[in-house]
Amino acid sequence: MRKRIIAGNWKMYKTPRESVDFVAKFLPMIHDHTRDEIVLFPTSTSLSHVIEAVKGSNVRAGAQTMHWLNEGPYTGQTSPTMLASIHCTHVLLGHSERRMYAHETDDMVNWKLKAALLHGLTPVVCVGESLEKRQSGLTEAVLRWQIACALNGVEPESSAALVIAYEPIWAIGTGSTATPNQAQEAHAIIRREIAATLGSARAESTRILYGGSVKPENTATLMAQPDIDGALVGGASLDPDTFCRIVKYQTA
Ligand code: 13P
Repeated sequence: MRKRIIAGNWKMYKTPRESVDFVAKFLPMIHDHTRDEIVLFPTSTSLSHVIEAVKGSNVRAGAQTMHWLNEGPYTGQTSPTMLASIHCTHVLLGHSERRMYAHETDDMVNWKLKAALLHGLTPVVCVGESLEKRQSGLTEAVLRWQIACALNGVEPESSAALVIAYEPIWAIGTGSTATPNQAQEAHAIIRREIAATLGSARAESTRILYGGSVKPENTATLMAQPDIDGALVGGASLDPDTFCRIVKYQTA
């Protein structure tokens, strides 16, 4: 059984004060929730505040990106050891907004993934096709390529923590969620590619999250798909009530 992960990616929203206020409201709402793992990804200035605020609770906190090296003359970057030193447990890697605006390449995502695993961080590697690629019938090719590149040289024995997030770019922030069938198909492709690279046992144990316009109204039908093991939520994770409704989705 793969335990589902419901994660909130706050992107470039919330000051430290707003982040801590969110946590103060959110924790009592979900304090007895054990069915799923809950992770928040605040922006870098809020990260240590959120880590402190969730201490001792059933909520974890992660970074939205990191560099792959431990230290060096890289202005603006944060290293895996720096994240581990503040008890950060998770890190998003290769989010499409990072690929698009910060020019993160498949190679960089691969280096970051290896660094995260080495430093005991749980990496959430984001993949997903653009609308143009989907309309050209290239969804499978894109996903297989992104997974193969990310996992290049990764050993099955060292990748127990690996999490993948399927986030079709056309569904991010647009309100047009992938249908449960579209998402399931993509997740199955991803799981097959993980099996081809890391073996079927690792593929079976790897959580694959769906992201892209997840809302309280569509969470349950998405989570009912056999290969969907959680959600990576953007906009709808910014409000504690709304995010709580997503966390507590009920399957029919
Ligand atoms: P939205 O839920 O706002 O579409 O964002 C999805 C996302 O990019 C999460 O990482």
